[in-house]
Amino acid sequence: MHKPELILRHKMFDRVCHWFVVATGIFTFLTGFSFFYPSFQWLGLIAGTPELARALHPIAGLLMCLPLMVMLARYYHHNKWEKGDLTWMLAIKDVMLENEDKIPPIGHYNPGQKVLFRTFVITSIVLTITGIMMWQPYFTPFFSTVSVQWAILLHAVCAVIMLIFVIVHFWMATWVEGSVAGMLYGYVSKAWCKKHHPNMLNDESHSEK
Ligand code: HEM
Repeated sequence: MHKPELILRHKMFDRVCHWFVVATGIFTFLTGFSFFYPSFQWLGLIAGTPELARALHPIAGLLMCLPLMVMLARYYHHNKWEKGDLTWMLAIKDVMLENEDKIPPIGHYNPGQKVLFRTFVITSIVLTITGIMMWQPYFTPFFSTVSVQWAILLHAVCAVIMLIFVIVHFWMATWVEGSVAGMLYGYVSKAWCKKHHPNMLNDESHSEK
């Protein structure tokens, strides 16, 4: 049987980081949203009791945001804004309709993913800082009441923004066939790169299998 030529897209360290972030992220989001409205309280049952949800949420949040920041730092060089990116953005209709001959070629990441990258950078930093400021009884006493009130507001806004972008990210990842397998096993086929990220084939930093 013909075996497709494979290219390494995600290193083992990044894949472990990614799925760890997903696991801790599910716990963080469910416990976090259980504090939003009384009718969401049942979401916190993932921790056992509302008290445990309250105690474990900040720890899970750190376990989500810190590896996420490491991962984002490692993907930084793939996410620099490039010359053709605006043209790709303007051709978004053809991207959605999969009119491949009309889509400008892109490299390791498309501009949509680059926007997502920037959103994750901002929201993970803000969520970490504001989360520490709100962490009773350990850190909150070090900050003024007004700054803690701002922290609470920013924390909630960033959590909602991150959730919206995670949903979009999940949708895009499952829409592009072969993408999730790439994040699970690390490798994608040359044909996949040619279809979705053609300029990646010119990048010599990817080792082949
Ligand atoms: C079950 C939910 C998720 C699935 C199925 C998923 C899937 C994927 C896939 C397939 C990729 C590789 C994309 C590519 O090769 O082009 C990826 C990359 C990435 N994911 Fe996720 N992901 C999920 C949740 C998350 C969460 C919760 C975060 C963080 C908040 C996250 C952050 C990232 C980052 C930073 C990358 C690398 C950069 C990028 O591709 O934008 N993912 N994910």
